[in-house]
Amino acid sequence: MMILPMTLEHVPQIAMLEKICFSDPWSEKSICSELENPLSYWLVCVIDNTVAGYVGSQTVLGQTDMMNLAVHPDYRRRGIAQKLIHALIAELKARGSHCLTLEVRPSNLPAIRLYEGLGFAEAGRRPNYYSHPREDGLILRKEWVC
Ligand SMILES: CC(C)(COP(=O)(O)OP(=O)(O)OC[C@H]1O[C@@H](n2cnc3c(N)ncnc32)[C@H](O)[C@@H]1OP(=O)(O)O)[C@@H](O)C(=O)NCCC(=O)NCCS
Repeated sequence: MMILPMTLEHVPQIAMLEKICFSDPWSEKSICSELENPLSYWLVCVIDNTVAGYVGSQTVLGQTDMMNLAVHPDYRRRGIAQKLIHALIAELKARGSHCLTLEVRPSNLPAIRLYEGLGFAEAGRRPNYYSHPREDGLILRKEWVC
């Protein structure tokens, strides 16, 4: 298992995982454009040449938003999401970011358990943030001292 920065070769598999995991998936083109964005930092977990999971983030003025996180159903409950977030935070610390914020569906208990276990705390709610199906977005945040 390797955790690596995303490169062009990972994009088609990430787009496929987006379709498997989300009702509103990012397109291959949007994922590709993240490679050109200096604010963005994405990591992949590669197992036997397969992208088993990924996390995507954007940092503005020392504050980072986690935009995507998914692990292929065949590779879940092996600690991959935890490893991706730990690796992301280590890199964000090195880059001078001091917090990581994300939105999650209140119905997404696996993800909420994961984030709670990593020390994220509730910071608010965005009404009707999600569509397909419509649902509020729970805002979670983790802060650290650089
Ligand atoms: C949420 C998701 C990323 C978790 O990935 P994962 O690699 O399976 O998670 P991990 O193995 O690192 O799990 C770490 C901890 O999170 C919690 N957790 C993860 N999946 C869980 C589940 N299905 N039920 C309950 N707790 C769960 C557990 O506490 C787990 O620790 P444990 O296995 O020792 O009990 C994965 O289920 C996924 O891709 N879901 C679909 C996409 C998604 O919802 N992304 C998040 C959007 S905000």
